Amino acid sequence: PTALKQAVAAAAIEEIRPHLDRRTILGVGSGSTVNCFIAALAPLVGEFAGAVASSEESAQQLRALGIEVIDLNSAGTLPLYIDGADEIDHDFAMIKGGGAALTREKIVAACSARFICIADSSKYVAQLGGFPLPVEVIPMARSWVSREMVRMGFSPVYRQGVVTDNGNQLIDLHDRMLDNPRELETAINQIPGVVTNGIFAHRGADLLLLGGDNRVERLSP
Ligand code: A5P
Repeated sequence: PTALKQAVAAAAIEEIRPHLDRRTILGVGSGSTVNCFIAALAPLVGEFAGAVASSEESAQQLRALGIEVIDLNSAGTLPLYIDGADEIDHDFAMIKGGGAALTREKIVAACSARFICIADSSKYVAQLGGFPLPVEVIPMARSWVSREMVRMGFSPVYRQGVVTDNGNQLIDLHDRMLDNPRELETAINQIPGVVTNGIFAHRGADLLLLGGDNRVERLSP
């Protein structure tokens, strides 16, 4: 629901505003919730240096507002990263990548001091895995990785017609709850041909702005 996304976007603006100065480079994620956040940045243009974007789509939207999009290689460590999630658990581990931007999101998140997750309350779950887990693969490895995923108890589905910003393909893993997200994040990353999986457990969120009926909750792990 758009109203909830706008409410959490506004809460994120309030959260970051006191920390902005003319040298601040913000990390900005991807997806429809982040699109609301980018739109809400409009009145702050000029109060910070620019942004590193985790997708071409976000980069375009930032540029359209007159915000400079900066290459991560020239940005150093970012103080703040704002992004959505497909699911977030009570330890603030997440599933991300429903919008295909998981690899760049994981890179920018890793380079950021503080991860602020913005989401509506339907995404806050006791256990990850209801949302199919995205895995970005090198195209020639797609079938091999899928077979390995079957061996691990998942039902892999090739996301046909989607090419990531990095020129790779995606497999979505269905039918298995993630009982140990940290271990599973590491295990899937060990398979040759896997670029990134959508579990963000080793680097989860530091703050969750959760949009519910009539209010935004501010939660820390
Ligand atoms: C993009 O690849 C994802 O990780 C997004 O952060 C996630 O899909 C959330 O998107 P929405 O805000 O559109 O739900």
